[in-house]
Amino acid sequence: MVHSYRVLIVDDEQVIRFVLHEALAKEGYEIEEASDGEEAVLKVRNNSFDLIILDIKMPKMDGIEALKAIHKLNPRIPVVMITAYGTTKIALSAMREGAFDYFTKPFDVAEIRIIVKRALEKRRLQKQIERLETQLLQEHRFEGIVGTAPKMQEVFALIRKVITNDVTVLICGESGTGKELVAQAIHYHSLRAKNPFIEVSCVAIPETLLESEMFGYERGAFTGAHHLKPGKFELAQGGSLLLDEIGDMPLSLQAKILRVIEEREFERVGGTKTIKVDIRIIAATNKDLATAVKEQTFREDLYFRINVLPIYLPPLREHSEDIPLLVDHFIRYYNQKLGKPVKRAAEDVLNIFLQYPWPGNVRELENVIQRAIILSTGETITPDLLPPNLHSAPVITDISTLGDDFSIPMPERIQAITDKLEERMIRVALKKANYRRQETADLLGISRKSLHNKMQKYELFDS
Ligand SMILES: Nc1ncnc2c1ncn2[C@@H]1O[C@H](COP(=O)(O)OP(=O)(O)OP(=O)(O)O)[C@@H](O)[C@H]1O
Ligand SMILES: [Mg+2]
Repeated sequence: MVHSYRVLIVDDEQVIRFVLHEALAKEGYEIEEASDGEEAVLKVRNNSFDLIILDIKMPKMDGIEALKAIHKLNPRIPVVMITAYGTTKIALSAMREGAFDYFTKPFDVAEIRIIVKRALEKRRLQKQIERLETQLLQEHRFEGIVGTAPKMQEVFALIRKVITNDVTVLICGESGTGKELVAQAIHYHSLRAKNPFIEVSCVAIPETLLESEMFGYERGAFTGAHHLKPGKFELAQGGSLLLDEIGDMPLSLQAKILRVIEEREFERVGGTKTIKVDIRIIAATNKDLATAVKEQTFREDLYFRINVLPIYLPPLREHSEDIPLLVDHFIRYYNQKLGKPVKRAAEDVLNIFLQYPWPGNVRELENVIQRAIILSTGETITPDLLPPNLHSAPVITDISTLGDDFSIPMPERIQAITDKLEERMIRVALKKANYRRQETADLLGISRKSLHNKMQKYELFDS
């Protein structure tokens, strides 16, 4: 036998155990028995089961207590309760405690077989999900997505959540934070993996072109349409479609997209035949869509439709603890690709990396490493191999050590730390806003006057 399910039957009455044992052994299950709650919990602790059938009324530990104890050990094993006739109330409270189902004594063997089958089917799906999950989190790396920071772990947890269903996913994050990488990871680990992953970028294409790109066109739809051409929605059939930079999509197209998302159907440009598609939609954007909705550049209804499950990718400066890991990752990758012997980045280089605000996020870091490896002649990446703009990044004392100097009274130390933080925030904001003062002030949520004063305080004018 390839694999048989293991079922634990728990009842204090031997006759009941016997009848159930007979009925289920016939189905090819492997059966174990326990005659009270305590024994059952012990068995669950020491063995693995796929299903537990649990009598509610038993001496020592009763069924409900046993159910709780079993779920503490493993919340994922389905438990089916056996109740005496007329005690449905207790059975219902067992359901509230997370029992899968229940049946009443005297019972009908055929009914039990059906309940057991259903419970085991649930168990099988559960196991499939568990397998996918463990595959996913090996060494914190997942399909080349590196990150051990809590914010990245949250991202991984969300990816895990969406790979087993078809929910529409919205991936938000600044440029270069890995939105496309995450979209691919979702597709290639989902049940649609064998079907196509298609991308369409909504940015920088004239509206009519974008429309025929997405929906395709019929022959003769417009001058130059010599053949029928399927669009991206059609090409993604059975798979996933990434609508990249959805925040840049023209309003009129947004209405058309909304229909495809809601109805999963559309017509080609110049066509009348309605085409049905079975696809998962993943949208990505570096815009703040909520603001876009307020500014009326993005349809509110479309926003609600795609914002079912947002995944927010943090900017690199918010998970700089991952920088050494990412550096390692890219060194290995580009070494191999470029046939170079580089082994590491020098300590100084890492220090520079940790100070730098990385406005271009992981993509910028990747480019910096690639460049350094191309230029390198030895085994170590040294500061001279870095682009000049990284050097000019101001060195900020590591604030975490500022708190360790007990020769200074605490209030002053706290002041020093907040000053450093404030200075860093202003530097990051300045860079992000391309040194435009009003935008920087808006980003920080302070007045222009106050920004001016703070910049003077931290001597930030000639940066
Ligand atoms: N966490 C990560 N681990 C490893 N590589 C990453 C990670 N995040 C991003 N990258 C790499 O950085 C580069 C940029 O990522 P990606 O294209 O996914 O960014 P994006 O968010 O789609 O950017 P944009 O908004 O500019 O399109 C890619 O080469 C990608 O492989
Ligand atoms: Mg992208």
